[in-house]
Amino acid sequence: MRILLTGSAGFIGFHTAQVLLARGDEVVGLDNFNPYYDPKLKEDRNAQLIKDKKFTLIRGDICDRKTVEKAMKGCDRVCHLAALAGVRYAFDHPDEYIDINIRGFFNVLDEVRLQKIPGLIYASSSSVYGGNTKMPLAETDRTDNQLSLYGMNKKDNELMAHAYHSLYGIPVTGLRFFTVYGPWGRPDMALFLFTDKILHGQPLDIFGHGKMQRDFTFINDIVDGIVASIDKNYPEEVFNLGCGRTEELMDYVAAIEKACGREAKKNLMDMQPGDVVRTEADISKAKKMLGFQPKTQIKDGVPQFVEWYRKYYGL
Ligand SMILES: NC(=O)c1ccc[n+]([C@@H]2O[C@H](COP(=O)([O-])OP(=O)(O)OC[C@H]3O[C@@H](n4cnc5c(N)ncnc54)[C@H](O)[C@@H]3O)[C@@H](O)[C@H]2O)c1
Repeated sequence: MRILLTGSAGFIGFHTAQVLLARGDEVVGLDNFNPYYDPKLKEDRNAQLIKDKKFTLIRGDICDRKTVEKAMKGCDRVCHLAALAGVRYAFDHPDEYIDINIRGFFNVLDEVRLQKIPGLIYASSSSVYGGNTKMPLAETDRTDNQLSLYGMNKKDNELMAHAYHSLYGIPVTGLRFFTVYGPWGRPDMALFLFTDKILHGQPLDIFGHGKMQRDFTFINDIVDGIVASIDKNYPEEVFNLGCGRTEELMDYVAAIEKACGREAKKNLMDMQPGDVVRTEADISKAKKMLGFQPKTQIKDGVPQFVEWYRKYYGL
């Protein structure tokens, strides 16, 4: 297949591209290498991808309709991962979130309609569950209680996709990722921040007094779910992609300390606005319909990140 992958230089996009290329698909990457975090990391990921002749990069913005139109030509699927992905960055940059996560998403969706692309798979998020307290979080639960602009954006994407499917019959699959981690991970996420601080002998700021709990999902498992969604191409679905087990934040920290071989000094801080206390994914639907079977737990996944981090930064 020829697949347009937006956000190809991003954490999840990079790993997804590698797997698609390895199995023989042609991948058109679209990314603007924005400076939300160090663009060098994006350039280095991209440098790995362009070694493969089946990969083409279009350096451009999903907010520019002409770029999206050009990138999508002749594609069999669109896998849309480009977005501003942090919850907290939105506090100071709300209009960028509306531009990229809403207008950019619309550009992709509407171009899928115009070019009659046979399937759109897009990144949603566990953030759509917001303040829901019934666990585990299931796709059948109501999702009208978002606690952040980012969560609201992702819910809005799901609604737009639903409306477009109803109006035009476009096959759309939304994937609600739960806290993804692994090698080449994002510098704004806890695993990266904590590893960096521990290896530089600095204290960790731990929000929610360490009482938060997360369903942490290893990158390879997420990519399995994305690729299965591309292949199944259901008419209209939303899937939770999580590990299906919830870890205490302090156990995550302990796993990082163990992998780094050092104990960290910890500053226990209050929860930050927009944060949720607990996420726990019900993944029974993805198991049944995508054959999704997460394989990696934090005790195995965290050391893989720390090993990559040491090598990449020469520590
Ligand atoms: N990583 C997670 O834990 C997680 C959890 C839930 C949902 N998601 C979603 O998964 C997707 C991928 O996340 P990620 O962790 O790989 O983030 P990332 O920031 O590493 O990747 C996003 C990529 O999109 C690109 N991009 C952003 N705006 C763009 C624009 N206007 N035009 C073109 N490219 C643009 C960025 O340069 C970046 O390379 C996002 O939609 C995110 O919201 C991620």
